[in-house]
Amino acid sequence: MFWKNFFKNSQLFTSSISNSQNNNKKILIIRQCIEYKGKPVQLVFSMDKSVNIREYHQLCESVGWECPSIQKIYTAIQNSFLILSLFYKKQETIQLIGFARVTSDQVFNAVIWDIVIHPNFQGQGLGKILIYHILDQLRSKNIVNIGLFADASVVSFYSNLGFIKDPNGIKGMFWFPVD
Ligand SMILES: CC(C)(COP(=O)(O)OP(=O)(O)OC[C@H]1O[C@@H](n2cnc3c(N)ncnc32)[C@H](O)[C@@H]1OP(=O)(O)O)[C@@H](O)C(=O)NCCC(=O)NCCS
Repeated sequence: MFWKNFFKNSQLFTSSISNSQNNNKKILIIRQCIEYKGKPVQLVFSMDKSVNIREYHQLCESVGWECPSIQKIYTAIQNSFLILSLFYKKQETIQLIGFARVTSDQVFNAVIWDIVIHPNFQGQGLGKILIYHILDQLRSKNIVNIGLFADASVVSFYSNLGFIKDPNGIKGMFWFPVD
């Protein structure tokens, strides 16, 4: 019942996203515009793995994330199950303003990583659209066990979107090298 209601509501967002092929790359264009510096701008979503790593680095830095090496980011992206990049279109150029990726066994489980929206574009519903789109993609592949690791400052962002802390008392546990 929860997911039925959830996806009924998320249709509001996904219905504004259309699939189109662009040079055999998976490009999604959102028709809905947002405002940036008082002007409407067009948003472009892409699921293509050929991410510009330099732009990705800049996006991470914009939210204060420490970025690993370019080679490690490249490998992580190539080994991910799903990539979602969000660009804003400015005349003939596009700029990366959002990103998320998913790892998965492609049958049962998926984990969402690295959700980020550039600070200039936060608070306009874009983070929510990224999550809804990822959930739609995973549900369409019958992957229903979907988790993530929330920074302490964004727990309520995820819980508002239906993510549950410690379901049935299950705790996330980690191992880190001590030396
Ligand atoms: C977290 C993040 C992705 C949210 O993206 P966003 O585009 O600003 O969020 P949205 O505009 O889609 O917000 C959706 C809802 O969540 C709420 N929300 C946004 N950021 C929040 C936060 N940090 N804590 C709690 N609620 C938050 C919004 O108020 C909004 O509520 P509403 O639907 O009632 O209006 C973005 O702030 C970000 O990139 N932060 C830095 C990177 C980061 O911490 N990523 C998460 C790693 S686990």
